[in-house]
Amino acid sequence: MLSIKYKGQGNPIRLTEDKQSYFTGNELIIGIGKKSELNRRKWILIARQVIALAKQNKLKAIALDAKDFDLDTEALVVSIEMAAYQFDVYKSEKEPTLETVVLLNADQKSAARGQIIGDEVNACRSLANTPPGLMTPSLLAEAAQEAAKGTKVRVKVLDRDDMKILKMGAVLGVAQGSSEEPKFIVMEYNGTGPASRKASQDNKNDGPIVLVGKGVTFDSGGLNLKPDEHIYEMHMDMSGSAAVIHAIIAAAKLGVKQNIVALVPAVENMPSGSSYRPGDVLTSMSGATIEVLNTDAEGRVILADALHYAKQYKPKLVVDVATLTGAADVAVGHFASAIFSKDEKLLAHVQQLGEESGDYVWPLPLWDEYEAEIKGTFGDWANIGKSRRSGGAITAAMFLYQFIKNPSTSSGQVTPWLHIDMAPRMTAVEGEHLAKGAAGAPVRLLIRLLDDF
Ligand code: BES
Ligand code: ZN
Ligand code: ZN
Repeated sequence: MLSIKYKGQGNPIRLTEDKQSYFTGNELIIGIGKKSELNRRKWILIARQVIALAKQNKLKAIALDAKDFDLDTEALVVSIEMAAYQFDVYKSEKEPTLETVVLLNADQKSAARGQIIGDEVNACRSLANTPPGLMTPSLLAEAAQEAAKGTKVRVKVLDRDDMKILKMGAVLGVAQGSSEEPKFIVMEYNGTGPASRKASQDNKNDGPIVLVGKGVTFDSGGLNLKPDEHIYEMHMDMSGSAAVIHAIIAAAKLGVKQNIVALVPAVENMPSGSSYRPGDVLTSMSGATIEVLNTDAEGRVILADALHYAKQYKPKLVVDVATLTGAADVAVGHFASAIFSKDEKLLAHVQQLGEESGDYVWPLPLWDEYEAEIKGTFGDWANIGKSRRSGGAITAAMFLYQFIKNPSTSSGQVTPWLHIDMAPRMTAVEGEHLAKGAAGAPVRLLIRLLDDF
């Protein structure tokens, strides 16, 4: 872990308006171009570039002046932490790492917050990067328990028998082809004080924010087995769960004044003699049936039960995070997660928070017209759209919507809901100055949302 100090020795960093960057043997000169042409997005990249160059030059300690960066201290430190991260647990020979950053003229309180957030983003990346044999549903549940140690987050893990009692036929259906036991992880954090008790007397919606994360620890596609170029990296199909686990932990460490729940349906999607099959009809916890047309569209199936489970909390907001569709990646490319909601104000707000946090998002439609796409023939809802390739991210979102839209309160109110398809942001892309592998999206955005909602 990076050590951030507020005084001491390190190779000085100097930003210049030139284009070139080089190391003089003492000073690291970073060419950032014309300052007047920079914006927040670019400053985040510059902060990371500093660290990437320090690593390239095998520097152990650097010293930089927070005032040189047109970035608040929190964002500066988060960016530094993210760029310093490397995943080399399974390498015999480790790359040299940057150990110390001396941060001058920094607001120390913001820096400490930044470090908590950066550490949780990186912990999320490590969970996602862990090989699939070492990150099974059981091990994911253990990791959640381990992460919660010493915090005010309580963790409960439901096993197959618990899920049978709850009639979670969707999660159990996807899990049945794997020899790994499915788990349903429930994390709860109560961050409200006396003030909010007053709010509930005032009849304000005081329910928690519920985060739901897709926890497919390996997505082979099941009997609709993925071809080799698509199966690669499918150990990261639990990235949504890693994000919600570390977002709730970060919120607890930051003392966010909010009640928060994180739910993770965790399964492995495998082909075997006991797998669920195309043609199977599963009865979900809500009672609605799911006609399985493709076993590779498994994420939406497990999330159906998790979203239904979320409603019992009478939440003021439900946010699910999932590496749900390759189609989201086709639609928006690698630089944003696709977001969906019926609430346009919420979408605009989340987009703004995305800009501030660095986890960029972009909305796609969630119109009722798309519902016809997923009407089942022999079950209530089909798990893929009739036009298959067209609007795949939208039909997946529309499928999820069926399981959250039921009135959750006696007054008939619909649960406010946001769906984040983070498949496009599962891994870091070149030029982002981040280590290869998981990008840690959208932990920063979730923390903002929890802090702010
Ligand atoms: N986990 C995948 C989606 C994915 C693809 C995430 C690439 C990250 C990178 C998901 O379970 C899946 O397989 N979706 C299918 C849906 C199709 C069968 C309708 C897809 O996107 O191809
Ligand atoms: Zn799949
Ligand atoms: Zn998947």
